[in-house]
Amino acid sequence: MSDFVTVAKVGAIPEGQGASFTVGESLVAIFNRGGNYFAIDDLCPHMGASLGAGELDEEGAVTCPWHAWRFDVCNGTWCDNPRLSINTYAVRVEGDEIQVRLPPETPSEDEPSDE
Ligand code: FES
Repeated sequence: MSDFVTVAKVGAIPEGQGASFTVGESLVAIFNRGGNYFAIDDLCPHMGASLGAGELDEEGAVTCPWHAWRFDVCNGTWCDNPRLSINTYAVRVEGDEIQVRLPPETPSEDEPSDE
């Protein structure tokens, strides 16, 4: 899946907040920061809390609601160790729709090959 997918209407995510969406087989957290939208993995890599339910601060970092790990919603970096990061996704607004693009799926090892 490499096309943009509509996840919500503009206005569904209040400024300074986030929300979680299922896009394809992924859970994506989308944040409204000053009217610009940013998308990262929704599942916290620590223990799987929903980052979309976390609090977004003025620097653009979301705080995980369970144990307070913080991630930059603009580039996915873990604020405590910027060498590590979670996935980010392209977001656009088309008309009144917020759309997200997931990376192309990689073939599973279970899928038959052409050989
Ligand atoms: S689950 Fe996110 S910090 Fe623990």
